[in-house]
Amino acid sequence: MPGIKGPSDYSREPRRHPSLKINAKEPFNAEPTRSDLISSYVTPVDFFYKRNHGPIPVVDDIERYSISLRGLVENSKELFMKDIWKLPKYTVTATLQCAGNRRTAMSKSRTVRGVGWDISAIGNENLRNRLDRMEKSQIAVWGGAKLADVLKLVGIPYLTSITQSGGKHVEFVSIDKCKEEKGGPYKASIPLNQATNPEADVLLAYEMNGEPLNRDHGYPLRVVVPGVIGARSVKWLDSINIIAEECQGFFMQKDYKMFPPTVNWDNINWSTRRPQMDFPVQSAICSLEDVCVVKHGKITIKGYAVSGGGRGIERVDVSIDGGKSWVEATRYQRIGIPYIADDSGSDKWAWVFFEAEANIPQSAEIVAKAVDIAANVQPESIDSIWNLRGILNTSWHRVQVRVGQANL
Ligand code: MTE
Repeated sequence: MPGIKGPSDYSREPRRHPSLKINAKEPFNAEPTRSDLISSYVTPVDFFYKRNHGPIPVVDDIERYSISLRGLVENSKELFMKDIWKLPKYTVTATLQCAGNRRTAMSKSRTVRGVGWDISAIGNENLRNRLDRMEKSQIAVWGGAKLADVLKLVGIPYLTSITQSGGKHVEFVSIDKCKEEKGGPYKASIPLNQATNPEADVLLAYEMNGEPLNRDHGYPLRVVVPGVIGARSVKWLDSINIIAEECQGFFMQKDYKMFPPTVNWDNINWSTRRPQMDFPVQSAICSLEDVCVVKHGKITIKGYAVSGGGRGIERVDVSIDGGKSWVEATRYQRIGIPYIADDSGSDKWAWVFFEAEANIPQSAEIVAKAVDIAANVQPESIDSIWNLRGILNTSWHRVQVRVGQANL
């Protein structure tokens, strides 16, 4: 494609913040430390997790960069950045979470395949369209055009489930080269009725934090699908295809599917499961490491909670006795303003931070579990949700603390 290249080696990788924990070097996969992750409600670009499957593409000429829209539509179209910039710009606050978040803990229960992640393969971006209501210094802005508006340009109206020629899915194809795709590009799809629903807030984003996207996060243009596992938010967009069946690419058909604990690499049949879309309810404690020493007295237990599909967080429970008894944590998106799920002042697609104080006895197992507005609750044990790819570890997050010469 003119204007952008997908290199086949790692000689032109961007610079990254030195404090990131690198989980794999090539392709580059890294996450922030727990304390950096919760240093602010909107994650600074430097601390935003980076999940790649190949070398980072290089844009050498933004004027020549374009995406094509084709497939089961009446009129195909080629759009340049100037065409996309002309569309109404929206900003929405949304949490992106990799399905592999917390995989390292799952692999301790039984081996799984995939890059290991602690609890920080997650980040919160601001894509909000009511910027005036926010304290600007606290937010990072991801801005872009709504996919629903882009699809209107090829004659697909809002809230369409099927095009006249039978298109039911919207496929996003990248420019990068992935070994899983035998050197071909990363791709994924979402249903057309989600893509054409302006309320679903699916964006073709070109900004993060009021700045053009950086290379790691998809410069010059990426998809952001709020409430859905990060794997569907395709970076470095090359084309959008309207197709009859969901995308047949590796990452839709042979990855990012949730299998039961009985399925192993000898009996797996990929076609029996659907590609994962919404992520389930999740929470994690970020103010403590999994095993740590704390000072005698009161400590603050702090972390994040989020659910997929735009479902808000109803409650976060915290225990200091391994889950025998619980207290409810306070939740907030803006400091000093209590969070109410579904309240028009809350960010529908975004995580909440939670906080609880506790006096720790000599030693304790501290646990967090979240409940979303549909009363979905995190499962207690890893074993009940173990799966061979190690995705969607949403089990209760547990940390072991001991009172002593503190490192806190
Ligand atoms: N898009 C492309 N083109 N290539 C990729 O490797 N990784 C996906 C998704 N989009 C990926 C991609 C996955 S698995 C995740 S979790 C998110 O991007 C991560 O986005 P981030 O690196 O901006 O945090």
